[in-house]
Amino acid sequence: MDLVLNHDQRLDQLARDVRDGLTGSPKTLPSKYFYDAHGSDLFDQITRLPEYYPTRREREILADNAARIARLSGAETLIELGSGTSDKTRLLLDALQAAGSLRRFVPFDVDPAVLHSAARALSTEYPHLQVSPIVGDFEADLDRLPAGSRRLLAFLGSTIGNLVPAERADFLGSVRAVLDVGDALLLGTDLVKDPDRLVAAYDDAAGVTAAFNKNVLAVLNRDLAADFDLAGFDHVAVWDREQEWIEMRLRSRSRQRVRIASCELTVEFAEGDEIRTEISAKFRLEGIRAELAAAGLRADQIWTDRAGDFAVSLALPV
Ligand SMILES: C[S@@+](CC[C@H](N)C(=O)[O-])C[C@H]1O[C@@H](n2cnc3c(N)ncnc32)[C@H](O)[C@@H]1O
Repeated sequence: MDLVLNHDQRLDQLARDVRDGLTGSPKTLPSKYFYDAHGSDLFDQITRLPEYYPTRREREILADNAARIARLSGAETLIELGSGTSDKTRLLLDALQAAGSLRRFVPFDVDPAVLHSAARALSTEYPHLQVSPIVGDFEADLDRLPAGSRRLLAFLGSTIGNLVPAERADFLGSVRAVLDVGDALLLGTDLVKDPDRLVAAYDDAAGVTAAFNKNVLAVLNRDLAADFDLAGFDHVAVWDREQEWIEMRLRSRSRQRVRIASCELTVEFAEGDEIRTEISAKFRLEGIRAELAAAGLRADQIWTDRAGDFAVSLALPV
């Protein structure tokens, strides 16, 4: 496993981000810190919840179009950013293998635990495929992606929606910078829809998303010697109509003081004070085209599922 981001670097970055995020207003924490082994497992459970439609919709699009994606891309290397379990990605791997072009799969994720187990499973399932996992941060480490001809860069699960517009522009610019002629980007994006369905997808009845949200506090307790009481915070999901994104927050149930020893930081919370832990932007087709175009990428194809809930775009460098 290629460790572009090692454990100590990750802890340094975490400490810096926590200090910045919890001393700012509003208080924020980057969503990438949900994902340790437990957080990745909780996310995997979320993808199977009745309320969480995005995974099923994206899977439908990939099932319907994987052969076309394989033909259009002719990919020899499939790189997947924020790969997680790479569950849906098997549809792409199967189609690319059937097309005869695929040689190598490079799953890339910030969580070494999920990457390790996914890479081990994939090596068994695809014995003729070279599986080369990379632990890294897709906002910082894209220059460390392997070179080669005919690379397909997949970014699924609408993970791009976790970035605010300026971060998305930077990210897409970095993607464009590493793509050569003959490479392509496959981008999954969740679409704007009825706010009640959106909120339910981030606030499920079984409470799995609440546990996932609070897991970031458990990560801070373990990795930064913090003393967050997880029961002292409520999970909140709200639709921001103006920004067209879902915000996940943790709301303090009472007045409390939290010590984060590794940051030499004490944070005061009044009752009702919130930490923003994730945004999940929802997209419109014209907006997807425009953001890609602004980065020097042309949406060659945009496919949606039959219900029109989700979109997958195949974009080419211009
Ligand atoms: C919303 S999940 C999506 C997982 C999978 N791609 C899917 O479609 O179900 C986001 C994934 O991206 C990873 N991730 C989040 N932020 C990241 C970052 N900055 N760099 C690399 N991976 C990141 C997480 O560990 C997680 O596996």
